[in-house]
Amino acid sequence: MDKRAFLKKTLFLTAAPLFARALNAKPAPNIVPTPTLPRFAVISDTHFGRKSKVGIDAMVKVPRTLKTLFSKAPVDALFVVGDLTDNGRPDEYRQLRSVFGDRTLVPHKLPVPPFYFMMGNHDYHHFSRDGDPAKYFTEQLGQEINQYAVIKGYPFITISLTPTRRGGKWTDPKNCYDAPIRKFLAEKLEVASRDFPGKPIFVFCHIPPSNTCYGSVSWGMKTINSILEKYPQVITFSGHSHFPVGHPRSIQQGKFTAVNDGSVAYTGYEDYDLKHVGKPTDAEVERVTEGLIVNVLGNGDVEIERWDTFRDEEILPRWLVKAPHDGSRFTHTKERKGLPAPAFAKGAKPSVTVSGDSCTVAFPQAKDDEIVLNYIVTLVEEGSAKALKRSGKYSQFYWNSEMPGQLSVSFAKVALPGKKLIARVIAEDAYRNKSAPILSDVFTLG
Ligand SMILES: [Fe+2]
Repeated sequence: MDKRAFLKKTLFLTAAPLFARALNAKPAPNIVPTPTLPRFAVISDTHFGRKSKVGIDAMVKVPRTLKTLFSKAPVDALFVVGDLTDNGRPDEYRQLRSVFGDRTLVPHKLPVPPFYFMMGNHDYHHFSRDGDPAKYFTEQLGQEINQYAVIKGYPFITISLTPTRRGGKWTDPKNCYDAPIRKFLAEKLEVASRDFPGKPIFVFCHIPPSNTCYGSVSWGMKTINSILEKYPQVITFSGHSHFPVGHPRSIQQGKFTAVNDGSVAYTGYEDYDLKHVGKPTDAEVERVTEGLIVNVLGNGDVEIERWDTFRDEEILPRWLVKAPHDGSRFTHTKERKGLPAPAFAKGAKPSVTVSGDSCTVAFPQAKDDEIVLNYIVTLVEEGSAKALKRSGKYSQFYWNSEMPGQLSVSFAKVALPGKKLIARVIAEDAYRNKSAPILSDVFTLG
């Protein structure tokens, strides 16, 4: 190894302590520092090496995300919660290191925060037959796969996904977080609860604990739920589902608080949505990159900022995890019903463009106190509500300021010649509360 390569490698392997020392540097005067309480950023699913279907890959999305998050008040740390790479290949880790080592992504004169990385299921793909992905991760990033840190007097636990290998293949990620990791988590939770009574404990794991926040029903795993459930002060941050953070159930409080941190690669959608609404386009899902910034407040509450890092826009409102952290003040619970239902503006009406036996139904977006998730569009016979044809459309709430004001759905080759038809549109919110329908004028198809 020549001297330059050696220095480069050494610099990166020692990056975390270097970054930590850099925290003592004086921040730029125009940015408000966080003097005594932690403020940290959380992202996941960067998927370095993934081929984007619309030509915007991790080498664009991750720098943009870091620039957005680092351009606000300085953070004490950044947690990158798994699926760092698409496959765990050397070239993908090289890309990751080049982006996270890029000092220009942090505003001039601001300290580079320490980065805490952990492994997700994708970081194992390359290793389906040979090698040790955990060892490789440590060699590449200079970090242990599981870590315990104390930042400004608050405890942080990170755990990496560890599938076991059977017959040359990794087992289903849903069964992951094996015995040594569970032991590490249990021991560190005990230490944190003993050393920091009354304070929240921040836990980071790629796959969400099962049946907690949005995304955890179809994408969660049960293996660590029973460990976490002993500690109502736990706040978990997870990715894996890629589900959007703009969805109000991306935070859920049951026996502890679970938060979905979204994805930097692309947004996901529920299997239920797929059947109910249909598939969003590649262009829709690829233009979504998200992350969180978390602030511990002076009164003990924890405030969570959600960021659209594609557009540099904050998704409001901010969430509060209220002190005392004993479960007595949980408000983001399963009991939320999301009422009132969404509503269209007075006089709103779908317009229908007919072309032979096909038609396109255009309609304005409805409003909701949180989000309109999607629309169900049906063709009915005049005087009936029975759907003869059915389709759906996402509101594209995850595009924030770029969310279109008007949407349309097409019905091709509809075999309903001569029938007096009406297009009927219903809006649904994140809890499946339904709006009153809006109806088009009567039309007929050829
Ligand atoms: Fe992922």
